[in-house]
Amino acid sequence: MNNPITDHIKNHRSIRRFEDRPLPKGLVEELVTCGQSASTSSNLQAYSVIEVSDPKRKKALAELCADQVQIHQSPTFLVFCADLNRDRLAGQLHGVENFDTDYVEALLIATVDAALVLQNVALAAESHGLGICMIGAIRIHPKAVGKLLNLPPLVYAVAGLCLGYPAKDQQQKPRLPLETILHPERYPEDDQQINHIKRYDQTMVEFYSSQAMHDKDPRWSKVMAARTARFHERAELDEYLSDQGFHFKSSSP
Ligand SMILES: Cc1cc2nc3c(=O)[nH]c(=O)nc-3n(C[C@H](O)[C@H](O)[C@H](O)COP(=O)(O)O)c2cc1C
Repeated sequence: MNNPITDHIKNHRSIRRFEDRPLPKGLVEELVTCGQSASTSSNLQAYSVIEVSDPKRKKALAELCADQVQIHQSPTFLVFCADLNRDRLAGQLHGVENFDTDYVEALLIATVDAALVLQNVALAAESHGLGICMIGAIRIHPKAVGKLLNLPPLVYAVAGLCLGYPAKDQQQKPRLPLETILHPERYPEDDQQINHIKRYDQTMVEFYSSQAMHDKDPRWSKVMAARTARFHERAELDEYLSDQGFHFKSSSP
């Protein structure tokens, strides 16, 4: 059932070490054009992509993203923003002043749009022999990031993307068994899921020991237990989104 495109998609792995080699001229434009071909809710195209090239600004941005080495090393760093500002301007051309963003739907539409563009760009980049690493850490300090990138209301940075030629290959990380996520007709009972999770835990233990990466406890369930208890670390985002004009009626006092 495979073909060259599905083989390419299934060959993904994140790359976190890059050669000191710039991308050829015009490639970023080509990649972002591929990004623009993604489906977009109601053709709103509610996203913007910012290329940060100035070394000082890129360093400052990397520091705001937990100082991750792959950001410093990547010759090209793109920031994918959810962006309803342009759609607001379009409405203004027709005298619409009451832009209807006080609903979760507005935030979701723009965020999903930006994520689809991001994934298209990533796949296109990999097809050109580049390595990629997405950077969600850009949401740790959204206020400072917004200031650095001069983001207007109704715009926020969803994720960054490191692009560059891989300096070190990375083994593919195994995914959950397909049965864990593909369900016939209806959502499964928890005990079925738990069996799959335990199976995947074992897969991850074997994966990390085959890589001579002896993490303390590489079981997926254990790692996720810690990860999902840390969402509060990005609490600034709630406040920032509200400041940016994404405030929800049901959550207002
Ligand atoms: C929205 C998003 C944000 C991410 N943020 C980071 C990040 O800040 N740093 C990082 O090293 N990897 C980041 N990643 C990469 C994931 O850790 C990686 O995709 C996952 O562990 C699976 O590994 P793989 O991509 O090699 O298959 C992010 C991925 C996504 C989709």
